[in-house]
Amino acid sequence: MIVLDQENKIFTLHTRNTTYQMKADQYNVLLHTYYGAKIDNCDLSVLLQCGERSFTPNPNEAGSNRNYSLDVAPQEYSTCGVGDFRLPAIELELANGSHTADMRYEGFRLEKGKYALEGLPGFYSTKDEAETLVIMLRDAAAQVVMELYYSVFEAYDLITRTVRIVNQGTEEIRLCRCASLCLDFPRSDMDLITFNAHHLMERCLDRGPLRPGIQSVGSVRGISSHQHNPFVILCGRDTDEDTGMCCGAMLLYSGNFEAAVECSQYENSRLVMGIHPFHFCWTLTSGQAFTAPEAAMVYSSNGFGQMSRQYHRAIRKHLLREPYDGRRKPVLINNWEATYFDFNADRLADIAREASALGIELFVMDDGWFGSRNNDDSGLGDWQVNLEKLPGGLEELVPRIKNMGMKFGIWMEPEMVNEDSHLYRAHPDWALHVPGRAPARGRGQLALDFSRKDVRDSIYEQMKVVLSSADIAYLKWDMNRSLTDVWSASLPSRRQGEVYHRYVLGVYDLLERLHRDYPHILIEGCCGGGGRFDGGMLYYTPQVWCSDDTDAIDRLCIQYGTSFCYPVCTMGAHVSAVPNEQNGRVTPLKTRGITAMSGAFGYEMDLGKCTAEEKKEIRRQVESYKTHYNLLHEGDYYRLSSPFQDRSFTAWEQVSPDQREALVSVVYGCINAAPLFGTLRIKGLNPDFQYQIDGAEPLYSGETLMKAGYPFPQIQGDYSAFQIYLRAVG
Ligand code: GLA
Repeated sequence: MIVLDQENKIFTLHTRNTTYQMKADQYNVLLHTYYGAKIDNCDLSVLLQCGERSFTPNPNEAGSNRNYSLDVAPQEYSTCGVGDFRLPAIELELANGSHTADMRYEGFRLEKGKYALEGLPGFYSTKDEAETLVIMLRDAAAQVVMELYYSVFEAYDLITRTVRIVNQGTEEIRLCRCASLCLDFPRSDMDLITFNAHHLMERCLDRGPLRPGIQSVGSVRGISSHQHNPFVILCGRDTDEDTGMCCGAMLLYSGNFEAAVECSQYENSRLVMGIHPFHFCWTLTSGQAFTAPEAAMVYSSNGFGQMSRQYHRAIRKHLLREPYDGRRKPVLINNWEATYFDFNADRLADIAREASALGIELFVMDDGWFGSRNNDDSGLGDWQVNLEKLPGGLEELVPRIKNMGMKFGIWMEPEMVNEDSHLYRAHPDWALHVPGRAPARGRGQLALDFSRKDVRDSIYEQMKVVLSSADIAYLKWDMNRSLTDVWSASLPSRRQGEVYHRYVLGVYDLLERLHRDYPHILIEGCCGGGGRFDGGMLYYTPQVWCSDDTDAIDRLCIQYGTSFCYPVCTMGAHVSAVPNEQNGRVTPLKTRGITAMSGAFGYEMDLGKCTAEEKKEIRRQVESYKTHYNLLHEGDYYRLSSPFQDRSFTAWEQVSPDQREALVSVVYGCINAAPLFGTLRIKGLNPDFQYQIDGAEPLYSGETLMKAGYPFPQIQGDYSAFQIYLRAVG
C-alpha cells in the first residue's frame, strides 16, 4: 500500500511486513526517512537529527542556516558536486563541462500495477498485484528531469525501483553515472554480504563488517560475472537465518555493475547499486531519455531465511516467464560431459535411448553440432548443421529422438564468433575490436558487437532457420568469455561509453525476439555456467546453468550461495559421472542425485557406461524428482546449515506452502570413524501438525521436530547423503 501525505510531502510504502518512507523537505530535497519493520504512517523525519558540522557545506537557499547540509542528511537519490561528498547515485556532465547534479522534488503520480521498462528486464504484475509511485525531481540549472519509480509487491515485501532521466534542455548532456538504487541507513554497525569467487565456483558467500570508507563489488567484464553477483545484503551484526534485520538488494542486469557501500564520517551508510561507471557515458541530446536497469529490495526483520523466501516467491510468480507455467519441466540429459565435441547422430541417439528408458524426458544436444566445430577454435558464428556429424540434419535427428518419447533441445552461443568461421571471414568487422589493436581472445573466440542491430539481425536469421527446422523444445543460450576491446563501429568516438550497455540491451533484444517468436521453447541461460546468473537473465531464461562445476560437494556451496536470492527452480543442476570432470572427486550417485534435485534437474553423463545397479538408482531419482517436483520447486526453502561454516554436513529443506509436506536433504562431508551423534532441528513446520517420517510410525509433532530435532542416521562413507520426507497426517 502506498500512503501519501501531500501537504507534508511524505510518501510511505507499506508491504506486508515492511515500511519504506521518503519526504521532500523545506528545500525540496527528497530525504530517505525510513526502511525497516512495518510501522504506521507517521512522519519519520523526526528521527533525523541535524546540527552544524564543519566542512559540510550548506545549500545556497539555506542562507545562514548552517545546521542543514546535504552531506549529512539521508538522500533518497544522492546528487553530486553540490554538497554531498558521499557516493553519488547520479553524475552528469553538462554542456559547460561541469560535473554537478542537484535534483529537487517537483511532484509525484500514482499508477496501478507495476511500471513497465522497454527493452529491459523487470518484475511484472497485473493491475491489481502491485502499485507504483513515481516521484519527479528536477535540476533547474541542468534542465534535467528525473523520475524515480517504485513498485510495491505487498505480499512479497518486495519493492522494485528504477530511474528515468530526461534532458529537457536544448544542449547535449552526458550521463556518467545513473544508479538504479540508492539506500541510506542511519547506522553503520552492519555487515555486508556478497557472493563471489570464480568460474567453477560461483556465488560463495562472504560476510564482513562495514568499515569507514567505501567497499564495493562489481564487474567490468561486460557480464554480471562469475566473480561477483549483482545481489548483496546489508544486515545486523548478529543476523542469522531466523533472527535479525537484513536488506537484500538485487540488480536485474547482466552487464557491468557496481554495488558500493560507503560508511561515512557520522557513521551512517549508503548503498549505491547500478551500472558500473567504468567506461559508461551516455549522451542525451535535447528531449532524450535514459532508463536505468531495475533494482529490487526485500527487507526482513526475521533473518535471511525470510528474505530469501520472499525473493523466491516473487521471482517465481513475477519475474520468470516460462512455457511450462505451473506444469512440470522435463528432466533432461545433456551430452556435453559424455562426448564433448566427439559425437555423431548414432552416439547421440544411444545416449537418448538409454535416458528415455530411465524416465528422462528431454535430450539436449550441446556444443559441436554446427559448422566446423570440432574444438574450441572454430565454427562459432556458423549456425548450420555439420552434416558430417549429423548427415540427415535436424530434420532426421529430432524425429528420431522424439520417437523415443523425448523432447529435443539444442545449444547455441549467439554472441560469439571464431576467426575460423565463414561468418568471421565475411564480416571481420562484426567482432568487438578497437581499430588498430588486435583483440584479445577468450576461449579462442571473439565477441560479436551485439550493440549493433545489423549484427543481431543477421545472427537471428540464422537462429530462426535452425529453430524452425525441427520440433525444438529447449535452447541453451551460452556465452563463454568476458568482453574486451569494447568499441563499436556504429557509434562516434564521443559515444563509445555506450557500447557496454548497448551490448546488454542487444542481448535482451534478441532474447525478447525469441520469446515472441518461439514462446514454447524453454531457454536455459549459461555463461560458462554461472557467469551471468542474475535477475536480468532470469526474465528471459527462467533457468540458468548454475556452474560448470558439477561436483556435488562444490555444488553445495554454489547452490547455497545462489539460494540467498534465487529460487531452486532457476538453478540448472545435473548429475554427472565420477571421478568428477572438474575436480576428480568421487561421490556416491545418491548424493549427486540429492544435490541436483534441488535445482532444474538433469543428467550429464554417458548412461551407457552405468551398471544395472546405477541405472536402478537413476530411475529411482527421476521418479523421486517427479513425485516431489512441486515441493522441490514451489516449496518454501530453508537452509538448515551452511557449508561455509560447517563442512561436516550440509542440510536444507523444502516445505509445502500448506506445511503438510516437507523434504529434508542432508549431505555429509568427509566421515570420521565413530562420528558424532547429531540431531537436526527442522524448520517451517506447523507445530500442531503430526508428521509421519518416510511413511513410518511413530508420528512426531511439528513442535517436537522444530524444537528438539530429529536424529541423524549413522551413515558410513565420505560424502554420503540422505533425505527424509515428512507428511502431516490427520
Ligand atoms: C560452456 C558451458 C558448458 C558447455 C560448454 C560447451 O562451458 O557452460 O555447459 O555447454 O560451454 O562448449
